Amino acid sequence: MRVILGVGGGIAAYKVASLLRLFTEAGHNVTVIPTDAATRFVGTATWEALSGNPVSNSVFDDVDKVNHVRLGQLADLVVIAPATADLVARAAAGMANDLLTGTLLMARCPVLMAPAMHTEMWEHPATVANIATLRSRGTLVLDPASGRLTGTDSGAGRLPEPADIFAAAMAACEGANHDRSPTASAPGSLVGRHLVITAGGTREPIDPVRYLGNRSSGKQGMALAAAALAEGATVELIVAHVEVPAPDGVDLVQVETAEQLRTATLRAAKQADALIMAAAVADFRPAEPVLTKIKKRPDGVDPVITLVRNPDILREAVEQRDAAGAGPVIVGFAAETGDPTADPLDHARQKLVRKGCDLLVLNQVGDGKVFGLDDTVATILDAHGAEPVEVAGTKTDVATAVVARVAAALTGRG
Ligand code: CTP
Repeated sequence: MRVILGVGGGIAAYKVASLLRLFTEAGHNVTVIPTDAATRFVGTATWEALSGNPVSNSVFDDVDKVNHVRLGQLADLVVIAPATADLVARAAAGMANDLLTGTLLMARCPVLMAPAMHTEMWEHPATVANIATLRSRGTLVLDPASGRLTGTDSGAGRLPEPADIFAAAMAACEGANHDRSPTASAPGSLVGRHLVITAGGTREPIDPVRYLGNRSSGKQGMALAAAALAEGATVELIVAHVEVPAPDGVDLVQVETAEQLRTATLRAAKQADALIMAAAVADFRPAEPVLTKIKKRPDGVDPVITLVRNPDILREAVEQRDAAGAGPVIVGFAAETGDPTADPLDHARQKLVRKGCDLLVLNQVGDGKVFGLDDTVATILDAHGAEPVEVAGTKTDVATAVVARVAAALTGRG
């Protein structure tokens, strides 16, 4: 791919040298366009040496090549890092007073901006409006990271890690459609986000040939993974027993038992923006799995299998997040039949409170409903006050609705 790497005039410009390396090592042809201010932080020679291409920010260099038109026209991807408040403002205003902003006006490929500035600048209404304008035009704008800023202050405004910018840029290119109009490449709502999704049914060994399992097909989890990928997220998919293949592009982790699922999920959740627990976890496991096959006894005495409770992984993920003070948006699933004491919705409401997750997706089961079928009716319950929403359709329809709610929750957090 032909990549334009625009560098804004902020201290984080030095980190962009690593980002440039990620692109060149992946085989992309990168032309760096620093603003004049950016060259006060990192000189032109560094960009030329690392990219192997000439570097300029003047529309009056190499005039015969008409660079201010050509570079944007030929680009397959434009990445701006750090996107300073000034550069964001000039891009939003459609200015073309240097080679970089001129290139931005010419480009019809995906454009990704990674802002870095002081928290006050990021939160200023002018910047907020400029970012909203850019996003409405199809520019992908990552949220800045939080942490130590230049000087003694800290807060939102750090440049996201180069590896995260690179991953978001690659996802943007994969997700972009081929209509090269300025508003065509509508950004995925989860670009730059990492989701962990569990799927399928756990199997708890009784002996080497038998297990306790359940009827989960894994279809809902797979549909969720596909929907998250389509919105530009990176996805770690932790699967127990499933009957359908995982979508291409996920980072797949295979487990069998609830205990293995627990270890993998709690580890992955620490790095996640969202955790969706679609797996059907066995609530109980044999207390003592037997290492040799249980045989029928000649004396006619049949075995008694004692069960013990499995850990509640969803609840533990919520506790882990709350103990850390921050962490993923957490979504649980509930399969309910209702009983004389309460209808399925009441059971789901109680479960939402008991589990402490942000969203709970209720499937009404019984009479052969849900397990393995493609069509379903789900109700999405929200712990933060929104009314329950019913979604009827395929598991893909439910997945799309759940992923949209996750994206909205993440946007609400900033
Ligand atoms: N879950 C979990 N760990 C368990 C059991 C369930 O993480 N040991 C998760 C499931 O992945 C699902 C949610 O909890 O997202 C609800 O699962 P469900 O089996 O309906 O809930 P239980 O806690 O088992 O509640 P109950 O059996 O009382 O209905």
